[in-house]
Amino acid sequence: MNETIAVKAEHLYKVFGKKPKEAARRISEGATRDEVEAFGTAAVIDASFEVKQGEIFVVMGLSGSGKSTLIRMLNGLLEPTSGTVTVAGTNITAVSAAELRRVRQKSVSMVFQHFALLPHRTVLENAAYGLEVQGVPKAKREAQAQRIVELVGLSGWEQKLPSELSGGMQQRVGIARALTAETDVLLMDEAFSALDPLIRREMQEQLVELQAELGKTIIFITHDLNEAMFLGDRIAVMRDGRIVQVGTPEEILTDPANDYVAQFVQDVDRTRVLTASSVMEPAYAEVALTSGPRNALRKMRDLQTSAVFVVGRGRQYLGVVRDRDVMRQVKNGESDLSVILRKPQGVSPDAPLVDLVEPSIESGLPLAVISETGKLLGTIPKITLLAALGNVPLTTQSIPIIDTPTTLTQRAMSDALSGTDPESSSSTTTASTTDDQGGQR
Ligand SMILES: Nc1ncnc2c1ncn2[C@@H]1O[C@H](COP(=O)(O)OP(=O)(O)OP(=O)(O)O)[C@@H](O)[C@H]1O
Ligand SMILES: [Mg+2]
Repeated sequence: MNETIAVKAEHLYKVFGKKPKEAARRISEGATRDEVEAFGTAAVIDASFEVKQGEIFVVMGLSGSGKSTLIRMLNGLLEPTSGTVTVAGTNITAVSAAELRRVRQKSVSMVFQHFALLPHRTVLENAAYGLEVQGVPKAKREAQAQRIVELVGLSGWEQKLPSELSGGMQQRVGIARALTAETDVLLMDEAFSALDPLIRREMQEQLVELQAELGKTIIFITHDLNEAMFLGDRIAVMRDGRIVQVGTPEEILTDPANDYVAQFVQDVDRTRVLTASSVMEPAYAEVALTSGPRNALRKMRDLQTSAVFVVGRGRQYLGVVRDRDVMRQVKNGESDLSVILRKPQGVSPDAPLVDLVEPSIESGLPLAVISETGKLLGTIPKITLLAALGNVPLTTQSIPIIDTPTTLTQRAMSDALSGTDPESSSSTTTASTTDDQGGQR
């Protein structure tokens, strides 16, 4: 993959105290944080990661784990004890103060929890402040700020003073200022933590929208796991100064690197993080359209199910056929499954579990998970969804995947299959040759 790296940290250390270098050296040689306590507080230990252009990278961890220290090194506010930070291709740990200031102005903006707005300036002037510092003429910077103020939902408030705004609106002004500066990288340290839950949720959604629209690289710090899971393309989990895991929200949830991370994610709202693709099962009850009714009925008999999924060439999802319809076809010696096809709505592999509950209840069948190009990727039986929602391990071997028991007896199916004169169905030449092909494992 040819992705541009926006921010890169390599073996970053930050020790506060009397002998930071000594402490960092000892830790790098195997000493623990506590053992070097006399030399200083190791706030960040050996942090290495890359943030891709356009990514929302979340740094999560308990209070004191080193998040703020880490992010402050990324924009040069703090000098690392050792290690390097590269922003937009420039190693900012190795440049002059003037050059660092230039990189910071041009490439990195920061939003804090309690954003310090200029109290005697209007919303518009506050939003334009970053450009003002850069020496951009008033008319130009305010035109630019106007656009962003609208984007963050503050139209009509341009001429108000910060004191006339609610906390949530003030935070929006802070974000507007960071966005107006037109830097590629946005650092946000607990930017939403002081907001009421509902406003906070709204801001999170808006941030995701803004990111999609403006393509910024966002490094977002939070100690709120649900926020991290909602926002993050990837999440770095910090503990006692170290990054203990970097991964997608799903990876962190389903494959925690250690007990610490596992405990951390225990309380997360899984229904919003886990997606259809992470819980789906292979579509066992599946036949190719060309394989015909006899094959479909045999499959239903063997699997004890009342319906099978039907796929076309390249596993294109075509729909389902029900046992009674198939039985009638077999008895009548018909061969074209497409006549009795029904097409329940499939779900996207990216759909969060919370969005699957209703369709699953409404559908008598397992949900079909369909790719963007219309391929049947897998199915989600009710029991699978239930197990995932409840975080109960489910061994698929021991529980029937199909939660739609047959409406016909096995005997009746067998009779229909043997009762049909094999000669009369010989026109369905594909039936025997593609037998079982649909059963993808
Ligand atoms: N300027 C400083 N001088 C001395 N120690 C510091 C300084 N800044 C941070 N620390 C220490 O470094 C460690 C990490 O602090 P940091 O602020 O980075 O944590 P954090 O993860 O941002 O916590 P929070 O969630 O509370 O903001 C803490 O033990 C803290 O006391
Ligand atoms: Mg902090």
